[in-house]
Amino acid sequence: MNLKPLVLPEKLLELQNRILQLRQTQQLELQNGDVGYASAPSNIALIKYWGKHSHLSQVALNSSLSFTLEGFRSHTKVTALGRFIADAQERAKITMSHQGAWLNAKMERWLNAILAPYAPEIGLHVESENNFPASCGIASSASGYAALCGAIANLLQLERHFSPDELQYWLCQWARLGSGSALRSAWLNESIPFIEWNVDEQYTSEALPVAFHPEWKKLKHVVFLLDGTEKKVSSSDGHLLVYSSPFQALRSVTLNARLQTLKRALLEFDFNALQQVVEEEAILMHTVMHTSTPPAAYLTHEVGTALATFIELRQKTPFPAFWTLDAGPNIHILYLEGAQSYIEDVRAQIESRLNKRIDVLHNEPHINSTALRLGYL
Ligand code: PMV
Repeated sequence: MNLKPLVLPEKLLELQNRILQLRQTQQLELQNGDVGYASAPSNIALIKYWGKHSHLSQVALNSSLSFTLEGFRSHTKVTALGRFIADAQERAKITMSHQGAWLNAKMERWLNAILAPYAPEIGLHVESENNFPASCGIASSASGYAALCGAIANLLQLERHFSPDELQYWLCQWARLGSGSALRSAWLNESIPFIEWNVDEQYTSEALPVAFHPEWKKLKHVVFLLDGTEKKVSSSDGHLLVYSSPFQALRSVTLNARLQTLKRALLEFDFNALQQVVEEEAILMHTVMHTSTPPAAYLTHEVGTALATFIELRQKTPFPAFWTLDAGPNIHILYLEGAQSYIEDVRAQIESRLNKRIDVLHNEPHINSTALRLGYL
């Protein structure tokens, strides 16, 4: 497949040029077998990125804001292959293993672009694993690309040559060019769990940490895994369908108001406002998805039953929890510490109505076997 090259923002091109200069003056060298490691979290969008302004510059139509899922992580190791010999035959030999999946054309284009200052001599071997199921609506591409950027930055030892702000910019922009939502996972300071992908009127985009009330530190997150199989429509295909939905215009003109409400609710710890705006946003995104041509239909009757059960129980005995959905038939529940027993009840009720067992994935920081095996703890 012959893909058109990615379009990089100017500031990122400047940083790439700096890498090239460092390399030309022998200040940034790689040897065969050098390694870089990183781990990055996934995130769940509260205000969603759905719809691209441009495919090649990978800029969203609208800003989005997410909650970082510290416990759902990708762990990545990259190894430099080959030697720095200027032999055109030794062109970028990038190989990749990602939980058994092979490198696809889009990833290859992205890797070739990020490694351009080293082309044509470098090869790269990538090993990456998630501690949660991939491609079923838990944003594995977000943590995957963010961790891969981190590992490449670690391999190139960029922190020795770039300021922390420059490094942060480099990470977020490269992650975004791989997968939009990855920009929000590439934020290094994980003590700030709310990250905005701000897109302005010129479609310039950047990551911004969002101010929040300390009570939000009590926010917990679980996934009710109703269907762990790989999704049928990839999000990169789905983003291109938005204009075919009659509801896209509605979602788009009302989005900024929801974003502002969410930011205020985060600052003032207004749980009810946050719950309302996040659930509304999820419904609107899935309405656009389901009414696109062809539809990107991720909702199943099981999701419908599970959500109805959740809402019914919360109406009967209010408890501080809300739900959202990503691009997959699984439910993300966010709740305040102390509401755990209600979440257990909801699960039991859903299991009884669906007549099947549901796996619950708890987003808790934990030691991961892969991390131990790759030796980066
Ligand atoms: O980053 P992508 O291209 O996988 O798109 C992500 C889209 C959603 O997960 C549905 C929403 C979001 O903002 O994360």
